[in-house]
Amino acid sequence: MADLSVEVAGVKFKNPVILASATPTMDRYGMKRGIDGGAAGAIAKSLFGESGKLGRKFPRPRFKLFDYKDYPGYPNELPHAFTLHSLEECSHYGYEEYMDDINKAKDMVGDEGVIMASLSGATMDEWEAMCKMVNETKADWVELNVSCPFAADMGVKMGAGAVELCPEITKLCAGILKKPFSVKISPQAADPVAIAEEVEKAGAMAVNLSARLSGIMIDIETARPIGPGAMGGWGGPYLIGYGLKIVSQAARRLNIPIIAGLGVWDWQDIIRYTMVGASLVQSGAGIMLQGYNISKKWVENINAWLDSKGYSSLDEIRGVALPNILKTRDIEREPEGVHAVVDFKKCNKCGTCIRSCFYAAIKLTKAGAIVNPEVCDGCGMCMEVCPQNAVSMSKGR
Ligand SMILES: Cc1cc2nc3c(=O)[nH]c(=O)nc-3n(C[C@H](O)[C@H](O)[C@H](O)COP(=O)(O)O)c2cc1C
Ligand code: SF4
Ligand code: SF4
Repeated sequence: MADLSVEVAGVKFKNPVILASATPTMDRYGMKRGIDGGAAGAIAKSLFGESGKLGRKFPRPRFKLFDYKDYPGYPNELPHAFTLHSLEECSHYGYEEYMDDINKAKDMVGDEGVIMASLSGATMDEWEAMCKMVNETKADWVELNVSCPFAADMGVKMGAGAVELCPEITKLCAGILKKPFSVKISPQAADPVAIAEEVEKAGAMAVNLSARLSGIMIDIETARPIGPGAMGGWGGPYLIGYGLKIVSQAARRLNIPIIAGLGVWDWQDIIRYTMVGASLVQSGAGIMLQGYNISKKWVENINAWLDSKGYSSLDEIRGVALPNILKTRDIEREPEGVHAVVDFKKCNKCGTCIRSCFYAAIKLTKAGAIVNPEVCDGCGMCMEVCPQNAVSMSKGR
């Protein structure tokens, strides 16, 4: 069996899966259930400073799922492209209760898991006060959360609205913290990787890439936002492409470890993030919708996959995809003679391909759809839309 353990900034994790800071880690009981469910660590729900304490009270209801329940086969089959909108800013705890809960979480979990506190101040004084307090707890790790997608909407300088302060916050906290720590950077920054570089220079031991976007949906019957009425966190598994982009870029430019995780939905996503350089992979929505015990399944599947490929540890696959990611200027362009070919045995003449062929290269015949190779551009759209998988691409005329 492969060794899934990972060591990050001197802290040992039994596998790369950690619970993202979110509802599942709102208290010690959730963190314990997450660790029992197979995760190696849990990032507690973020503590906001006193000036952001409004966020400790939640709107109810505060979750909205788009494109979810109407999926065929639900709830046994779950969709892969849905949106979770939520308005849940921070832990409902004040400073003392938070630190007490972290201590109790560590007592409950012991050596079975890594307990990671998450702090989010709105002033330098708040950052300082929280860092000093967390130093006195049993937390194994501290995360500086400068990523909350919508906290700044409360009118305080925090989260994604304070992204330019990340280096200053990191420097201040690095001087106070006596524990390993990561900095969580918003994907809404114009260049999150540039911020990650600055944060590394300022003393961060790891970066977390990343949080969700903020967004809103309008009900056209009422002209009102659906849900609590304000911007909320906006995300889902479809964001993994953006997550893989920033993690792969960060892995090339940083020397510190990366906690990855945006859009993780299954075990393959954890391997994907590892292949672009991540050391740990967090899950928020994936755990919320598949339950705490999904981590155990992910770990089993990762183990079986590594075994099947003959790998003995995650180190052997970390970053292996990076050399395969090309610059757009280096990709092959205008290869000769690529065109679509339809397999009449599979084609049911539905015409779906025709409406998406912008080169007018397809005609329906009695036998099925026929592609004119002289007109076909080889773009591949017909192959992507064909419900029968009747289209393939052929090289050479
Ligand atoms: C309901 C909810 C609450 C969240 N609360 C926090 C939080 O308190 N602190 C934090 O750093 N991130 C928070 N997040 C963001 C997650 O930690 C994670 O970065 C984000 O959801 C991306 O991962 P995912 O695509 O696996 O959900 C929250 C996410 C969700 C869905
Ligand atoms: S979409 Fe596929 S099945 Fe439908 S007409 Fe085109 S090739 Fe045939
Ligand atoms: S590959 Fe593109 S151009 Fe060619 S038939 Fe298909 S959709 Fe049309």
